[in-house]
Amino acid sequence: MNGKFWKPGTRLLSEDVLLDKNALDEGSLGVCFNPLAQLSLNQQRQELPIFKHRTEIIYLMEKFRVLIVVGETGSGKTTQLPQYLYEAGWTSNGKCIACTQPRRVSAVTVAQRVCQERGSTLGDLVGYTIQFDNCCSEQVTRIKYLTDGMLIREMMLDPLLSRYSIIMIDEAHERTIYTDLVLGLIKKILKVRKDLGVIISSATVDAEMFQRFFDGPQECSILSVQGRCHPVTLHYASQPVKNYIQESASLCVDLIQNQRVKGDILVFLSGQDEIEQFMSLIELEHVLVLALHAGLSMERQLQALTPNQDTKITNKIIASTNIAETSVTVPGIVYVIDCGVVKQRHYDPYADSESLVKVPVSKHSASQRAGRAGRTQPGHCYRMYTKQHFDRNLKTSTTPQMQISEATEMILQLKALGVNNVHHFDYISAPPTAIMIKALETLYLLGAIDSQTHLTKGHGTIMCEMPIPCRISKCLLEACDKGCGADMLTLCAMTSLTQIWTTNDAHVKVLDACKNKFAVIQGDLLTYMNIYHAYARITDPHQRITWCQENHIDHRSMARAVHVRSQLKKYTTKFKLKTNSLFHDDDAQGYDSLYSPSQVIVMCYLKGHFHHVARRNADHVTFTTLRGDQIVHIHPSSVLFKYAPPWIVYGDLVQTDKKYVMNVSMIDPEWLNNKQESL
Ligand code: CDP
Ligand code: MG
Repeated sequence: MNGKFWKPGTRLLSEDVLLDKNALDEGSLGVCFNPLAQLSLNQQRQELPIFKHRTEIIYLMEKFRVLIVVGETGSGKTTQLPQYLYEAGWTSNGKCIACTQPRRVSAVTVAQRVCQERGSTLGDLVGYTIQFDNCCSEQVTRIKYLTDGMLIREMMLDPLLSRYSIIMIDEAHERTIYTDLVLGLIKKILKVRKDLGVIISSATVDAEMFQRFFDGPQECSILSVQGRCHPVTLHYASQPVKNYIQESASLCVDLIQNQRVKGDILVFLSGQDEIEQFMSLIELEHVLVLALHAGLSMERQLQALTPNQDTKITNKIIASTNIAETSVTVPGIVYVIDCGVVKQRHYDPYADSESLVKVPVSKHSASQRAGRAGRTQPGHCYRMYTKQHFDRNLKTSTTPQMQISEATEMILQLKALGVNNVHHFDYISAPPTAIMIKALETLYLLGAIDSQTHLTKGHGTIMCEMPIPCRISKCLLEACDKGCGADMLTLCAMTSLTQIWTTNDAHVKVLDACKNKFAVIQGDLLTYMNIYHAYARITDPHQRITWCQENHIDHRSMARAVHVRSQLKKYTTKFKLKTNSLFHDDDAQGYDSLYSPSQVIVMCYLKGHFHHVARRNADHVTFTTLRGDQIVHIHPSSVLFKYAPPWIVYGDLVQTDKKYVMNVSMIDPEWLNNKQESL
C-alpha cells in the first residue's frame, strides 16, 4: 500500500458501512417544557416555587457566604436565583453574577430564557460563555451563564475571580469532574475574598455533604425550596427480575388494560437500545409510547415533554434514560417504573481506558426517580428489583465522576492554577491514587510536566491554555513541528464533531455510497480531511448547504468544524506555531522524507494517542489493545470496518454489546519506536 492520499474516484472501500445505532446516550436535552407558558412572563416568574423564598434568599445571601439551595427541577433555581441577586443590587459595584452549568446547551438555553424574562438582548445584561462561543459584553453583562470548565479557564487569568460578586454552582448534584473541581477552587478563593457570595444549587437532598465541605452551618446555610410534592407509593418486585425491559412492558399493559389507570407512565431504562426494545413490545390502542433521550431531535424531545392534546389517547408512556431523573421534568406523570440501573462511564487506570458499564442506581437516584410520580397528584413507583436488593446493593449516593474518570485534564488544570501538589488539593471527593498516578504518567509522556511534575515551560503551558484535550494539543504541537500543523487543525476540528453524517433520512446504501466518495485506505482521519477540504473548497454558503444535503453530511456540524478550526487557529497564531500543510503536497516531487505526508500526519496523531494502539488478532477481525489487552472491534461507522489493517491507532472506544473503536487509522508499529524524531 502506498501512503498517498486517496483521490475521489480512484478506490472504494467497504460496501455496507452500517449506521451508528448504538451511539452513546450522553449529552443533554436542548428543550424545556414550560407549563406556565400561557401566563405573562412576570406571572410565570411569580408562580415558580422559588418565588416564595425570594426575600429569604436575599437575606441569607447577605448573612452567609455560602448558600445551598435544594429544590427539584423546574422550581426556578437556575433562571431566578441570579435575577433575585441582581435585583437586590449584588452587581451595583460593577461586578457580575456567574452561574455555572455542567452542559453547554443548558448554558445557552437558560441565558436565552432569562433574557426573554428581562426583555433584553442576549449578550447585553444577560449572556453566556461556552467553549468557542462567547456571548457576553465586558461592559454591560451582569448575569453570565457559563460552563464550569469555562469558569476554571477564567481562573487562569483571574485566580480570585475578582470580576464576580456571586458565583452560583448549579446542578451540583450531578457531581461532574468540573463542578467538583470548581467547588474545591471556590473554597480556596473564599479564604481570601470575604466579599464573594457562593450559591450551590442541587436537585437532590444531599445538601449536608456540601455543607460539611464548606465548613459547616456557621459559614453555610441550606434552603429547601418546597416543590409541589405528593406521596408516592413504592412497589418492589417480590423476586429478582430477569428481564426488566419485558417486565416493564407487561406492567404497563397490565396497568392500562386491567387496572384502567389514568395518568401517564414514565419508564426509566438505561439507554437508547433498551428504550427501542421496550417500545417495540408495547402495542396498545389509544396509548402513545414515546422515547426520551439525548440522541433525539429537538422536536421529538419536545413531543415527549408536551402534554398530549389528542382526546382519543387515554394514556401516554414515556420511556426515558436517566435524563428524566433531574435534567428535565416530564409533566403529568403518575406512575414511574424504575429498572434500577444506569449506564456509567468508568475509567480503568490500569488499562488506561474508559468503558460504559451498567451499574445499579444509587438510593438517591432511586428516590429521585420515584419522586417524579408525585408532582401533580399522589403516584406510584414500581421498582424492578426487590426491597432486599435496594437495601443491600444500592449505594447511598451516586459515585462522583471524579472517582471514576480519567484525571489528566483535571490535573493539568490544577497545575495551571498553581496547585502543584495535586494530592493535597481539597477535593470534595478525591480521585483514587491509581488514577492520579496514571494521569501524572500520561502528562509526563505528553511532555506537559517534567520529572518533578512541574508544568513544562513550552508545551505544558500551551497545553493548559489550548481549549482542547491535552492529548489533542500534543498532536497539534507535534504537527506544527513536522510541517503539517494546518492539517492537524482540520483534524482537531473534525474529530471534535459528534456527528458528521445525517443518518435519519438516508437509506443505508445511499449513505454508504456517500461515505465511500471520501473514504481512504489510511483510515478515518484522512477521510475526514477529504470531507473537510471538499466542503471548504466551496465558497458560496448556499452551495455548501446543497453540497451537504447531496452527500448526507450534517451541515451544522461542518459549519461548526470551520468555526472550531478558526478558533484553534487563533491559538496557534498566538503561540507562534507554524501551520503548514502537507495535504496538497502528496504528489510533490522530491519530498524530503522517509514518509509520505499522510503518514506524517498519522504519526503526529499517534504522538497524542500512544495509549490507543491496537494490533489485529489472528481472526483478522478483532484487535487487542497494547495497553490493557482489551479485545476491540472496529466500529461499523469506520471506513476501516471491512478492511482491518494489522495495526491501528484509534480516537475513541465505545462499548455496547462489544467494545468498538472509532476514528481509526492504520499505522506501522515502527512508528511507536520514537524513530520519527529523525523526520
Ligand atoms: O433550575 P430549576 O430546574 O429549578 O428551574 P429553572 O431552570 O429555573 O426553570 C424554571 C422554569 O422556567 C421552568 O419550569 C420553565 O417553565 C421555565 N424555563 C423555560 O421556559 N425555558 C428554559 N430554557 C428554562 C426554564
Ligand atoms: Mg436548573
